[in-house]
Amino acid sequence: MGKVYVFDHPLIQHKLTIIRDKETGTKEFRELVDEVSTLMAFEITRDLPLQEVKIQTPVCEANAKTLAGKKLGIVPILRAGIGMVDGILKLIPAAKVGHVGLYRDPATLKPVEYYVKLPSDVEERDFIVVDPMLATGGSATEAIHSLKKRGAQNIKFMCLVAAPEGVEVLQEDHPDVDIYIAALDEKLNEKGYIVPGLGDAGDRLFGTK
Ligand code: PRP
Ligand code: URA
Repeated sequence: MGKVYVFDHPLIQHKLTIIRDKETGTKEFRELVDEVSTLMAFEITRDLPLQEVKIQTPVCEANAKTLAGKKLGIVPILRAGIGMVDGILKLIPAAKVGHVGLYRDPATLKPVEYYVKLPSDVEERDFIVVDPMLATGGSATEAIHSLKKRGAQNIKFMCLVAAPEGVEVLQEDHPDVDIYIAALDEKLNEKGYIVPGLGDAGDRLFGTK
């Protein structure tokens, strides 16, 4: 069963509250999603392997640690996932970025895939799939399925706000995938929106309605 990590750091919680507020406009919403993504990336990369190197400081020779060069890939689920990519790349600029395009059919709430483009060395990379919202779990499950079908083996899922229903579905469908979230909300409403949530993440990020 995949583990669920809730990042309850005060900075993340504070920024998330402003993100949730319906009075927060597109510019600030986008900036804060970017900032929270950076903070979450700091935590999600905690288990990256290190290697010892010898360096010369101004004082003496020293053994020091650097990243061992694990290959990473970030995969935003279009469209709203795009808002999280730059924030993560600030910390891991060498990561490659793939894209999975999905939209939720408003009537059935089922995900419809319309685009997939991943790094060519998909089998060698560890992936972080990102989307601000995990609602019914359909989109995340389908995106991860799409990556696995193409050879991805190590996948984490990161989102801002999750509903318990989505977490359950993702854990059931992909028990090998750990889930990293900024907040676990109460429930879904009858339209499949997360309650209290933040509304439609894509529309708020891109100013569409
Ligand atoms: C939203 C959100 C997720 C999905 C979550 O995308 O960004 O991808 O819904 O819902 P689920 O867990 O029930 O699948 P949406 O389909 O609205 O597309 P958009 O990002 O293009 O606006
Ligand atoms: N997608 C969103 O953007 N918001 C929700 O609350 C649920 C799905």
